[in-house]
Amino acid sequence: MSRAVSWKLGDQTGRTFVVTGASSGLGLAITRHLAAAGGRVVMAVRDTAKGHRVRDLLRAGAVKADLAVRRLDLFDLGSVRRFAAEIEADGTPVDVLINNAGIGTVPRRLSAEGVESQLATNHLGHFALTGLLLGRLAAGIDPAVVTVGSSLYRLGRLDLDDVAAERRYSPGRAYATSKLANVLFAVELDRRLRASGSPVRSLLAHPGMTRTALDRDAPASARTVAAVMGTLFRRPIDDAVAPILYAATEPAAPTGRHIGPGRPLRRARPTAETLTGAATDRDLAARLWSRSAELTGVDPA
Ligand SMILES: NC(=O)c1ccc[n+]([C@@H]2O[C@H](COP(=O)([O-])OP(=O)(O)OC[C@H]3O[C@@H](n4cnc5c(N)ncnc54)[C@H](OP(=O)(O)O)[C@@H]3O)[C@@H](O)[C@H]2O)c1
Repeated sequence: MSRAVSWKLGDQTGRTFVVTGASSGLGLAITRHLAAAGGRVVMAVRDTAKGHRVRDLLRAGAVKADLAVRRLDLFDLGSVRRFAAEIEADGTPVDVLINNAGIGTVPRRLSAEGVESQLATNHLGHFALTGLLLGRLAAGIDPAVVTVGSSLYRLGRLDLDDVAAERRYSPGRAYATSKLANVLFAVELDRRLRASGSPVRSLLAHPGMTRTALDRDAPASARTVAAVMGTLFRRPIDDAVAPILYAATEPAAPTGRHIGPGRPLRRARPTAETLTGAATDRDLAARLWSRSAELTGVDPA
């Protein structure tokens, strides 16, 4: 079941957003919209030279942008800790964290902890980052953590005894599994924050399908499938980021749902979709949480 709403991004003056992966694709579009609405954006990027170039381009546009560039490599837990420590040390307020960055359909590679790179980057890095920033978020204005999911979570198969994906590796399946982990994390975080009476809300949003650099390292066959699907289902990027911006700025946005742009081929409107399949498995969500805390040394809530 899904429910659509009419919505427009309001004035964000006085609010600070941390956006991961702000140097390209959806993260860049999210940053552009938030800055144009008066928000301050901390652009959390793995390549600061690229981040500065992008920031300068945004500033050169019509937007009067309050933008800071900070280094964050989600594949490296040391970098995640340094990023959070710097935010803490200089007292940067954080009202909203947008867990957006990601890699997709890449060849098998392992993190220092021995975790498959898509699970490590898309899920574990954000799991640790969220945990390390929760203290600052709790002091924020309408504080929220928005995790960017994907409809492909339905194809994920999470085997917590094989986080290295040693038994069988398919780049596309591993991407879908990392997105299932994003979904399970966002929903479990919501449950835990509500149970503890925290002011921070955990939301989950997805863009539908839009053209970005996400599949640049994908096998040619996967890129061809995506290109064909794309001719039918791709949306303009400004429509694709609307559900994420809605989740990040609208206190009435529902938690525990997958907020997307609505049905393909229809006008885009933030639409709260019901999660299905493994995403509703509370035991799996709790086990993913414990394993993630073990692997990162961070326990968010
Ligand atoms: N595009 C779609 O149709 C679609 C559909 C469903 C969900 N999504 C989700 O949308 C999110 C954004 O993807 P996108 O489509 O905008 O792809 P993208 O253009 O490739 O952007 C991904 C961003 O993540 C950053 N990133 C990658 N690895 C990182 C790391 N280790 N540490 C920090 N940042 C890292 C990239 O940095 P660089 O700028 O340095 O490359 C880039 O800015 C992802 O979570 C993806 O799963 C996308």
